Amino acid sequence: MEEKTPDLAGIEKEIELATEAADTSESLRAVRMGYLGKGGKIPSLMKSLKDVAPDMRPAFGKAVNGLRERAEELFAAAEAKLRSKEMQARYERERIDVTLPGRQRKKGAYHPDTLIIDELVSVFAGMGFEIYEGREIETDYYNFTALNTPKDHPARDMQDTFYLGADFLLRTQTSAGQVHVMESKQPPIKILSPGKVYRPDDDATHSPMFSQMEGLVVDRGITLCDLKGMLDEFAKKVFGGNVKTRLRPSYFPFTEPSVEVDVSCFECGGKGCKLCKGTGWIEVLGAGMVNRAVLKNCGIDPDEYTGFAFGMGIERIAMLKYGINNMKLLFEGDVCFSKQFRA
Ligand code: PHE
Repeated sequence: MEEKTPDLAGIEKEIELATEAADTSESLRAVRMGYLGKGGKIPSLMKSLKDVAPDMRPAFGKAVNGLRERAEELFAAAEAKLRSKEMQARYERERIDVTLPGRQRKKGAYHPDTLIIDELVSVFAGMGFEIYEGREIETDYYNFTALNTPKDHPARDMQDTFYLGADFLLRTQTSAGQVHVMESKQPPIKILSPGKVYRPDDDATHSPMFSQMEGLVVDRGITLCDLKGMLDEFAKKVFGGNVKTRLRPSYFPFTEPSVEVDVSCFECGGKGCKLCKGTGWIEVLGAGMVNRAVLKNCGIDPDEYTGFAFGMGIERIAMLKYGINNMKLLFEGDVCFSKQFRA
């Protein structure tokens, strides 16, 4: 009986051509299934071994095994080739130009007010002051009455006020915080209080909302000399080592005596220039010894304790220090403006 022996060499050739023709890993896998997968051509050949004449079986079995090994080799080689081709394509697709300039993240900048507040806080913290943040909505009592400015007191005209109904108002001065601090604790007191205040004024040098920095020291034996010494230190740190201070008599209902504090002009060194309007001096803050009436209102014995207080406008200090000529610039929120300043 003449058996038709399968053409193994022909199948090998077929596989060679098919692996060359497959152009994706996926199509190669499909081709492989057709030859080596379950029910594929080569396993079928193995199954047909039983139909082969017994004396031919060993040789046939060996030949089919050889074909299977060869097929494995061909598929492995084709797969490696395709994989590297596909990786190459992926590298091309995901190519990054490392020489491109990076995307710049836009940086913000501190507002000049913030720079000044931070600077003042660090100067005064160095002298042992604690920070007290008061409230922006106050009662008439804390903003005025307790500060020795009862209703109908002429000094109320110094500060126009936004009233919020009969009982509340927007604080016109950080001095309102003095009362809260003195009410809640006995001396020694040494606080610094930055914050926003409100007055219905709006022109080139006034804004309805602005910032102040209040200072308050109460203890036994505090004198105007202590105030002067501390202000000298502050002026030197903020405006430069050669700056001097002077006190001029003034009036505030909650301090007695009251003073305006000037610093010698840091622009011209005191000779007189545009900044100091030819006077050689620049007014920077109001201050004084805490009025006995205020101490009493807050439950502190004025025969035992004395104190001083000072208050300054942050925008004013910022404009002076950074040479800003228009206050409105401080309220526009333009980062290009803020970026120009550094502490
Ligand atoms: N509160 C005053 C003002 O706003 C400034 C000041 C504070 C004066 C403390 C004396 C003492 O004008």
